[in-house]
Amino acid sequence: ADERESMYLVSEFAQRHFADMLWNSELGKAIGLTYFKERGFTPETIKKFGLGYCLDQWDGFTNAALDKGYRLSYLEKTGLTIVKPDPNNPNGTRKFDRFKGRVMFPIHSMSGRVLGFGGRILTNDKKAAKYLNSPESDIYHKSKVLYGIFYAKKAIAKEDNCFLVEGYTDVIQLHQRGLENVVSSSGTALTPEQIRLINRLTKNITVLFDGDAAGLRASLRGIDLILEQGMNVKVCTFPEGEDPDSFAKNNELEDIVGYLEGNAKDFIQFKANLLAKEAANDPIKRAETVRDIVNSIAKIPDGIKQEIYIQECAGIMNVSESVLFSTLAQIGKKES
Ligand code: CTP
Ligand code: MN
Ligand code: MN
Ligand code: MN
Ligand code: MN
Repeated sequence: ADERESMYLVSEFAQRHFADMLWNSELGKAIGLTYFKERGFTPETIKKFGLGYCLDQWDGFTNAALDKGYRLSYLEKTGLTIVKPDPNNPNGTRKFDRFKGRVMFPIHSMSGRVLGFGGRILTNDKKAAKYLNSPESDIYHKSKVLYGIFYAKKAIAKEDNCFLVEGYTDVIQLHQRGLENVVSSSGTALTPEQIRLINRLTKNITVLFDGDAAGLRASLRGIDLILEQGMNVKVCTFPEGEDPDSFAKNNELEDIVGYLEGNAKDFIQFKANLLAKEAANDPIKRAETVRDIVNSIAKIPDGIKQEIYIQECAGIMNVSESVLFSTLAQIGKKES
């Protein structure tokens, strides 16, 4: 069979194995299932997203896969198994489960194949990475994948809007509450390829990043990339220290929807509001913000939309449209 198909098959075996450990092994139930339940995930949700647990053993998963006839080369290529030289045997190797002791989030393609995994540690050990992800491979290109897209695609098309969040648990918690048109860039800076996946389903994105400095920076970066593809972007921020997961865990659906409706702003208002918080009366800061907004408007391919946003910006920032149009024209020249 072809190489990539073999990699899908071993990844799908891994997904079933980790889910089996979660539901049916004593340690999986005691550690992994308890963890997910404490996060507020119901059994139905845990099953729907195919969540699992990799036992805290050196090579328990790897041996199970080899016993079933999956080849070591594909375990290694998908990164599920790490093969290292054996310090006690110059010609030998040792095999380790990459995700030892982690709860597992399988990452699916648009069509539902398992491409890779994110694995979370259960402790709050600051020395270990909180999430470990599958390495880049022939089937997993993290810049081209959106976590949750398989479960969200129908709802995105139906609602004609896509909520974009940072993390795995943000997707799952919102989904469980009934907001199913949600995907995550999973910690990578948002890429044009990821936005293109959404663009096939809707022209409208609402960015819901974490209520912290990193989330704010990521939202700002995402805006221009989305505008460049001719899509519409809104941004909704969360209270300091909250992310969509924690917010959704603590609120009912109607309150979540109410919050999103009340706080989602188009990108001009979002940027203008940031300034209002910093230094509303500082003319230099205001000029910088206006320039920043016009820079974003310059990314929009449609001239009519540009004009409408220029009008909006002029109104909100209290500057003349003509100066904004000439700034826009200058930016256009520099770029061509
Ligand atoms: N991430 C990662 N590696 C890390 C930290 C984060 O790959 N060491 C990715 C994960 O996909 C994570 C996302 O970035 O879901 C967002 O990071 P963060 O907000 O820190 O994590 P949460 O999703 O909020 O995780 P949790 O609620 O489980 O703590
Ligand atoms: Mn490829
Ligand atoms: Mn974060
Ligand atoms: Mn978060
Ligand atoms: Mn979180």
